[in-house]
Amino acid sequence: MRRIDQFLANLGYCSRREARGWVEDGRVTVGGGAIDDSGTKAAAPDVRVDGEPLDHPDGLLLLFHKPVGLVCSHDAREGLNVYSVLPPRWQRRNPTITSVGRLDKDTSGLLLLTDQSPLVHQLTSPKHKVPKVYRATVDADLSPDLVAQFASGTLLLAGETEPCAPASLTLIGPREAELTLTEGRYHQVRRMFSAVGATVLTLHRARFGHLDLAEVPSGQWRELPLDAFGV
Ligand code: URA
Repeated sequence: MRRIDQFLANLGYCSRREARGWVEDGRVTVGGGAIDDSGTKAAAPDVRVDGEPLDHPDGLLLLFHKPVGLVCSHDAREGLNVYSVLPPRWQRRNPTITSVGRLDKDTSGLLLLTDQSPLVHQLTSPKHKVPKVYRATVDADLSPDLVAQFASGTLLLAGETEPCAPASLTLIGPREAELTLTEGRYHQVRRMFSAVGATVLTLHRARFGHLDLAEVPSGQWRELPLDAFGV
């Protein structure tokens, strides 16, 4: 049971002060009946706003197809972010919707967005080794020797002393490859290729754990059940 004004504010409908007006205007019902106090406590399934059930009161988990050009940071100084394409009400939610790990501005592909912080921690923790599959094109021909080098667990990134965990590389063309990582270091794919003398030209994440983008078009999302990862 939570206060109605808290529900409405946390789910991004309006401020707590505005919620009082919404209640006075008869827009909010509990168990089918009108209420006259925005401090009334209720269970989410019993609440209706303008006759509609509450918008995802238990949380959100989205599989988003990130286009190139959007950042994952919430800091407006870093440019247009992935959250800006979501419905305005979702952008106002508290807890805030955030990305599960990050993709660079120039990277496209599968990005999970959620307001469930335990899920973020679980899926980004190095302990859990969630496999992420990237498709990269690079500016130099890729030697077949790289497959063993990336798998060896000895590749060092510039400025680091801990080698990368073994990663699975599949060559797709002379300058195109698929790379599966179980860690998520800063700019890791670009830096791994850089460590072997290649610059990444395009980068796309095709899979995250057991999920792929399926038919989700760029800039769109699909809702996932909150227990999609069993967390
Ligand atoms: N590795 C990178 O270099 N960039 C990304 O966006 C993701 C992984």
